[in-house]
Amino acid sequence: MTLTILGIESSCDDTAAAVVRDNEVLSSVVYGQTDLHADFGGVVPEIAARAHAEKLDHCIEEALQNAGLTLEDLDGIAVTAGPGLIGGVLSGVMCAKGISAATGLPLIGVNHLAGHALTPRLTDQIPYPYLMLLVSGGHCQFLIVEAHDRYQRIGGTIDDAPGEAFDKTARILGLPQPGGPSVEQAAKSGDPKRFNLPRPLLNQPGCDMSFSGLKTAILRARDSVVAEKGGLTVQDQSDLCAGFQAAVTDVLIEKTRRAMQLYLDLNPTKRSFAIAGGVAANGAIRGGLMQLCAGLETDFVAPPLRLCTDNAAMIAYAGIEMMQAGHRDDLTLSARPRWPLDQRAAPMLGSGKKGAKA
Ligand code: KG4
Ligand code: ZN
Repeated sequence: MTLTILGIESSCDDTAAAVVRDNEVLSSVVYGQTDLHADFGGVVPEIAARAHAEKLDHCIEEALQNAGLTLEDLDGIAVTAGPGLIGGVLSGVMCAKGISAATGLPLIGVNHLAGHALTPRLTDQIPYPYLMLLVSGGHCQFLIVEAHDRYQRIGGTIDDAPGEAFDKTARILGLPQPGGPSVEQAAKSGDPKRFNLPRPLLNQPGCDMSFSGLKTAILRARDSVVAEKGGLTVQDQSDLCAGFQAAVTDVLIEKTRRAMQLYLDLNPTKRSFAIAGGVAANGAIRGGLMQLCAGLETDFVAPPLRLCTDNAAMIAYAGIEMMQAGHRDDLTLSARPRWPLDQRAAPMLGSGKKGAKA
């Protein structure tokens, strides 16, 4: 059955709306809020919530217009109902409820993490079960995705997300935000071996990770260079960036190797590994993961970056799978600040600058 769904996303600092029909993204509009939060060194929840409330209507209108559709052409509305910054999630949920009440369209509350996790099915139709590494400024976890509503979280960060660590490293070294691209650029001309940086939790069993100690190590290394020479040269910056990126890459690759073993133990008919999140843009990390997959005869799936970072097409698509399985919500749908995908897994520590990691 063909389904055309409007997706709404407002759980962090992107206001987004999209229209998806089965596996086709008819439109996807994302209004960022970077400028609004620039002076504060992180996302300010109240400012984010207010901006979502102001922008959602326009964003939805634009998404419908770009798709060449009206509300009457839709089969349902999917909205992020958590996890995330509660004010933002509430803005989206209230807006979706309003449209649903006015039009009678079915309402589906989607877990934001499910949106990310199901994206490789939207873009590449990969079969269940597959292994996913979700790695961004707010998230870092390994998920075995068994069905649209069945996930095993087999590991994740116990403190910062890697994107957050890239951003903090850039700040410590005086490089522009967002930190990921500027650290990657500087690392190109750096020596990854000059500074002896830790690989936190690398030798501990399991797939959990930690990145906050690495950021502290960068701070110490910077301070000792500054104490010795009175400042940082461009080469010092590059060497620190290269060392940091190599440490993050080593940890992610080794932990992925272990996660992959757990996944392959399930004997999937088609071996597939997928990544999502802004950090997936990093060439060194991506290259290392691709090589690992090639060695394990596993397909490597990386959706285009605009669908890897926060967007509403992934929410609409998750809504389609949920609706096809008969799921419906009603006007009692509530917004949830925390909402782990795998209810059986122990809660994760840390909350991250961009809200709950669940
Ligand atoms: O998925 P995303 O757009 O937003 C959320 O965190 O939800 O991810 C943004 C994060 C930022 O922390 C940014 O520094 C990081 O992804 N990032 C990168 C690169 N491009 C973006 N990290 C490492 N290397 C990159 N090339
Ligand atoms: Zn996200």
